[in-house]
Amino acid sequence: MNSAVRIGALISGGGTNLQAIIDACESGAIDGKMVFVGSDNPSAGGLDRARHRGIAHFVVDYRDILRRFRSLPSESRLPEDFSLQDCQHKQHIFPEGASVNQVSDFLKSRAMAESELLMQMAGYEFDLLVLAGFMRNLTPYFIDRVNVSPGQSRIMNIHPAILPAFPGTDGYGDTFRHGCKVGGCTVHFVDYGEDSGPIIGQRTFPILPGDTLDCIKKKGLKQEWKLYPECVQLFVQKKLHLVRKEFSLPDGGIVRRTIVEIDP
Ligand code: GAR
Repeated sequence: MNSAVRIGALISGGGTNLQAIIDACESGAIDGKMVFVGSDNPSAGGLDRARHRGIAHFVVDYRDILRRFRSLPSESRLPEDFSLQDCQHKQHIFPEGASVNQVSDFLKSRAMAESELLMQMAGYEFDLLVLAGFMRNLTPYFIDRVNVSPGQSRIMNIHPAILPAFPGTDGYGDTFRHGCKVGGCTVHFVDYGEDSGPIIGQRTFPILPGDTLDCIKKKGLKQEWKLYPECVQLFVQKKLHLVRKEFSLPDGGIVRRTIVEIDP
């Protein structure tokens, strides 16, 4: 057991998942320590949670960076080590029909914000980065600079749906509007897609007649607060292994996928 696992977190909002992880570190349910909290949003409530617990925190104001990029793209300075071609090749989150310019503006503007994030994060040594309600897509530029050990991932995300159903920004809303009878949440490693990375853990809850979207969010968050610390502790215990698998399909085809195997 490693008693010194250092955890960094990125948030955008209220930070109840962040709080669950901090509490689990303090109670010993996670053998780790929260070493920093970063936010893309200066008014994220989760920043106060970090402040109250004396945890280092910082803001990289995405809205401001993206506004600057849009108003003066030619004067925007891209990080020197940014390769548009590399990111275009790896990332597959763009809707069909997105123009080359839209994709390249997205990747360039995010890389500007992400290089600031990386600069802030460079002040801390960390073993695991948890996205706890961080509402920004990360590009390969950022992911490859955090996941530096081949075949290993150290970025986790929590998503408010039973993936692979309902990726995107409104998992509980999509679950509700689809008339699902069960809702849930998923913790996964982050890859270059949108909420498409290898699944670590999932929890579900029933959706009953008369449940409103608000009920579903409340039930879901309760599950998230249990699931995320459990998955972080599995990481700390080194029980999570990424394994490349090949599966035969009924039509004779083959699908290759990286999945998480968990030690008992
Ligand atoms: C949570 O429901 C989390 O699953 C979701 O945002 C909420 C954050 O709540 N994350 C996403 O939708 C990521 N795409 P919190 O700030 O109270 O932890």
